[in-house]
Amino acid sequence: MTVALAPAGTDALPLHVLGADDVALWAGQQSDRIRTWVESSGFKGAIGAALMIPNDLGQPEAALIGYGTEALRNRDRFALAAAMTKLAPGTYRIDSGIEQDHLEQEALGWLLASYAFDRYRDTKVERPTLVTPDGVDGERVSIMAEAEFLTRDLINTPASDMGPQELETAARALAKRHNAKITVTTGEALLADNFPMIHTVGRASDRAPRLIDMSRGNRGPRITLVGKGVCFDTGGLNLKPGSSMGLMKKDMGGAANVLGLAHMIMASGLQVRLRVLIPAVENSVSANSFRPQDILTSRKGLTVEINNTDAEGRLVLADALTFAAEEKTDLIVSMATLTGAARVAVGPDLAPYFTDDDDAATALDLSARRMADPVWRLPFHTPYEPMIEPGIADLDNAPKGGFGGAITAALFLRRFVKEDDRYIHFDIYGWQPTAAPGRPKGGALQGARALFAALPDLLGL
Ligand code: BES
Ligand code: MN
Ligand code: ZN
Repeated sequence: MTVALAPAGTDALPLHVLGADDVALWAGQQSDRIRTWVESSGFKGAIGAALMIPNDLGQPEAALIGYGTEALRNRDRFALAAAMTKLAPGTYRIDSGIEQDHLEQEALGWLLASYAFDRYRDTKVERPTLVTPDGVDGERVSIMAEAEFLTRDLINTPASDMGPQELETAARALAKRHNAKITVTTGEALLADNFPMIHTVGRASDRAPRLIDMSRGNRGPRITLVGKGVCFDTGGLNLKPGSSMGLMKKDMGGAANVLGLAHMIMASGLQVRLRVLIPAVENSVSANSFRPQDILTSRKGLTVEINNTDAEGRLVLADALTFAAEEKTDLIVSMATLTGAARVAVGPDLAPYFTDDDDAATALDLSARRMADPVWRLPFHTPYEPMIEPGIADLDNAPKGGFGGAITAALFLRRFVKEDDRYIHFDIYGWQPTAAPGRPKGGALQGARALFAALPDLLGL
């Protein structure tokens, strides 16, 4: 699926974006014919409302889209996206009604609303096209939309067609497209190369575990992205009940998000040395599954007592983070559908993140708002460290009681980077539970766009 704004200057119908308070005024300035049409249509400028305006021959001459009020817009994002599906097919240019600093996200929302997951069914919906609004970088918006489509596609694809091998194939395709280097360590080679926990979590599946390592760029600051690639999470021997397992094809949502972010970075030509690490595994049940109370030795040498085989994400990420931290970096980011506790804390919409760097948090919060990609900082609360120390080993993968479960998981991960590493960890949901404007139900990009837009600030570019 190609996704792009039309170049500025493309022949297009004018699109008037009218708030609830603007409709009467605008209609009053039109011909009797148009005023009557608007008044009799019941169009009141509500978010999600659209009205085609015909000329004397009955052909479309212009269109109206409702923009509601600021208070109502703040209840969601992407007001244009809410209405664009109701426009007649064709090309439109925004003529009036949107403040300059909202144009970029509204244009993005428009593109995001045109997404359909069509791998298994021909959906063939024709969506209207938007001309790049004045002052908006159309290529940048298109890149961000394309990244999100990639992320959504990867998450939406069921585990039967998105195992560790297929995730590798997707990473290879992205690497090829951007001339990135990629190496993959698979199966027994994980043991030889000292990624014991990635191997242990993935060994029960007949689809071999692997570590995907992609990199591009030889100038600029070093940024390493680590994404949880659990292609299906049954829970392992601590088997999830059916109701909790239902959505676990999305447990590679962290990997899908870092690949989306990598696309944004590489396609926009940011001058960075980018590296992407994805431990790709399936957490399955078999005679050789790892067990509760097994003690694993990680790549870093820290021992981990398994108190729940369903806390597998932190294990595979730990070895990948250790590997990431073996070279000097300017920023390490992990993204993972890591805990149910994060969902309970902030719900599916907000992407919680952890960092010890207050400046990074400020930059992220700002860019999240600008990019309509909401995030929320949670603390690496050091006084909880004893909760991840079981006594019998260095670390416990699943502290009893589950208090502060997103925080203890984050603290666990932090043990595997170096103390002076600049580290941001995202515990995302990666899924849109009910359709919203620009965000169809299904796989979701979260936090990646906020990060992308914050990178110049974070890395001093
Ligand atoms: N992939 C899950 C976390 C998850 C569940 C994310 C549902 C989003 C929605 C993860 O591997 C997991 O099972 N975590 C456990 C950890 C617990 C056993 C310490 C959890 O959150 O219950
Ligand atoms: Mn799990
Ligand atoms: Zn998981």
